[in-house]
Amino acid sequence: MALTFDVTRRQDVVSDADRAAVLADPGFGNHFTDHMVTVTWTKGDGWHDAKVTPYGPISIDPSAAVLHYAQEIFEGMKAYRHADGSVWTFRPQQNAARFARSATRMALPVMQEADFIDALRALVTMDEAWVPPAGGGETSLYLRPFMFASEPFLGVRPANEVTFCVIASPAGAYFSGGVKPVSLWISTDFARAGDGGTGAAKCGGNYASSLAGQLEGAEHGCDQAVFLDSSSHTYIEELGGMNLFIVYKDGRLVTPELTGSILEGVTRDSILELSKDLGLQPEERRIPIQEWKDGAASGEIAEVFACGTAAVVTPVGELKWDGGSCDHRREGHDDKVALQIRSSLLDIQYGRVEDSRGWLTRLA
Ligand code: COI
Repeated sequence: MALTFDVTRRQDVVSDADRAAVLADPGFGNHFTDHMVTVTWTKGDGWHDAKVTPYGPISIDPSAAVLHYAQEIFEGMKAYRHADGSVWTFRPQQNAARFARSATRMALPVMQEADFIDALRALVTMDEAWVPPAGGGETSLYLRPFMFASEPFLGVRPANEVTFCVIASPAGAYFSGGVKPVSLWISTDFARAGDGGTGAAKCGGNYASSLAGQLEGAEHGCDQAVFLDSSSHTYIEELGGMNLFIVYKDGRLVTPELTGSILEGVTRDSILELSKDLGLQPEERRIPIQEWKDGAASGEIAEVFACGTAAVVTPVGELKWDGGSCDHRREGHDDKVALQIRSSLLDIQYGRVEDSRGWLTRLA
């Protein structure tokens, strides 16, 4: 049976003036809306007690399994305001399906697609005023559904009590400074995920394990780290929070194939689909890191870009490693393909072109 959401309105909602000030310059992940969704799952009763309540700290027992064994998953999505005032989200069925796959991998209960989307709609309907106005550049309302083992129990086994939440955060550009090329550090000391591990699941542990590589990158003056496969340290995987694409001079658009240790990005999948409209030839395969270095040196590689829900499409500039660096950018380089793909995606998401693939779902 479909969930129904019990609503408790916040009495002291943020004032119109304060909210407008946040929406004028939201940054990423700094501000949260007035309400949140929670739904409880227990082994005996399944999903129940679906609520929209005032946003605020959640009380959690210090022995809750998530705090010890990291049984947790999340999703990243956005709500976009269209010119007619309506609010839409992008391919939520894909996020619901990935959330279900992540849940299964982390021995958490599956939430049905309809309940997942209804939970987003319940929150966005309530906090619609927090969806930035149309025409405000690239601002949106970032939606963060997540699920964690809330059962107070220290034995290592799948939890019998789980909490699902959705919170929302007005968002501008993910990287401060907007769309400009990021530099990447090749992490060889650290892997993000391994064969048979949780790399394809969107679980917090994967992001935690990417941080040491990111810190190492920062020590070498890079913005992000790129991770290689954990067994041969040869093939490109992903950045930890974003998938990667390489654009060749001859029009090939190549991205690492999904091996089980790479996140199955919704933006990644959408770009593979859209690239055909742009006259590119998409290819999914293993990419040796040496191919990147060689292609940058020979000029065969025209562009490299990273993608994800939060950052959309971000051009990559310099690539650095222990003892060397390369840069595919040539004189007059303008990240043409990356920027074209970026606008094609944003045009669909913001309803500026026809949604011929039926990728949008209305939330409010
Ligand atoms: C996203 O693009 O939504 C991500 O998951 C990246 C990061 C903010 C965790």
